[in-house]
Amino acid sequence: MRISVIGCGYLGAVHASAMAELGHEVIGIDVDERKIAALAAGRPSFFEPGLPEILASATETGRLRFSTDIADAADAQVHFLAVGTPQTAGSSAADVSYVDAAFAALLPHLAEDAIVVGKSTVPVGTAARLAGRLAEEAPHASLAWNPEFLREGFAVKDTLEPDRLVYGVAEGDRHAASVLDQIYRAALEAGTPRIVTDYATAELVKVAANAFLATKISFINAMSEIADATGADVTALADALGHDARIGRRFLNAGVGFGGGCLPKDIRAFTARAEELGRGEALAFLKEVDAINLRQRQRVVDLAVLALGGSVHRKKIAVLGVTFKPDSDDVRDSPALDVAVLLKGLGADVVATDPEGIENARARHPQLDYTTSSREALHDADLVVLVTEWREYRALDPDATGRLVAGRRIIDGRNVLDPVAWRAAGWDYRGLGRP
Ligand code: UDX
Repeated sequence: MRISVIGCGYLGAVHASAMAELGHEVIGIDVDERKIAALAAGRPSFFEPGLPEILASATETGRLRFSTDIADAADAQVHFLAVGTPQTAGSSAADVSYVDAAFAALLPHLAEDAIVVGKSTVPVGTAARLAGRLAEEAPHASLAWNPEFLREGFAVKDTLEPDRLVYGVAEGDRHAASVLDQIYRAALEAGTPRIVTDYATAELVKVAANAFLATKISFINAMSEIADATGADVTALADALGHDARIGRRFLNAGVGFGGGCLPKDIRAFTARAEELGRGEALAFLKEVDAINLRQRQRVVDLAVLALGGSVHRKKIAVLGVTFKPDSDDVRDSPALDVAVLLKGLGADVVATDPEGIENARARHPQLDYTTSSREALHDADLVVLVTEWREYRALDPDATGRLVAGRRIIDGRNVLDPVAWRAAGWDYRGLGRP
């Protein structure tokens, strides 16, 4: 198939590369010249395992090209819209102006029978609105909504081997579904479930999934507060709950909470959309989910103050991790980076370290001290705060780490270390909801 992908940020760059990897002819379009030049040279502008390899092989064979001119997408049969929908400044609603702008720019270039496929996460109702516009201005083309569920760090795998495929199509539109089936043939042959539904349901699947995941994380974080008050152990609680197949163990890890470019903004935008629809009460609980999540960052800071006897002022604190999760260089709404900033605000000498996220963190918070060397961060530290569970931090040896620091105190903001082993090595170990 001849495919265009409009918007070559995180989602679009991965989608374009993955579609080329499946054998399609792909053109990626973005208004950002630097981004396009880097991608055309086979270099993504962000860290994502596996992406450089498939990007390089697709650009070398010529199956994947890039351009800043949307007219170059004109001979594609299918156009994926993969632009961002960030949180609007000063509001919790999603900003759909990039979707609208990309759609408007594409309209004059649509070939006969072209299909526009939305991938961006949008407020429910957006697809119907765009379809209305298409019917007036390009009636020969059609629209489908095909939400993306990829996780950072697993984006290539999640795109090539998705859990499920969801197509939102206009009533009676068999053509769009059969074209999408051709595009995703490999996944369908491997048995991936596929749900064909209406626009609103397809849009909702995405935000509902993220709202559910966020709720699950905040639920266990709320339990960790109760565990702290009662001497219970939230990790054992999560293990026991997780054996109930109706609940499941995944996404029940208590800690400093969720961040990133999706979960926080998606639950806020979903709440705002429900309010617009006059159904604000139905999603009022998501505000509590957000509040519990943000409270976790303060809890880690409070634990740090406690561990240092009442004040962090002038104390050297090694913050392990700045990204919102491991295997990513993304620091958007990162709980780890927030904790570092809060500690710095209390007068601590914070040295933050991360294998991939330093450059992005520095761009946002130049006031912090950074090092890529965890040894350097740990050197002479009065307190260690682990806030992103990179493999190398999980694997830290309590004895060897103890020889680097000035004081054996650690806050395990992700509950990933073994309290018994760390305490046995003389550490003051504190987790969230662990006795
Ligand atoms: C998420 C969704 O998982 C994905 O389906 C969607 O397409 C985009 O948003 P992502 O933001 O890449 O993906 O990260 P995810 O792995 O979901 O983690 C989100 C956040 O939750 C991270 O900050 C992570 O540390 C946190 N988390 C996750 C927890 O705090 N506890 C858990 O048990 C699981």
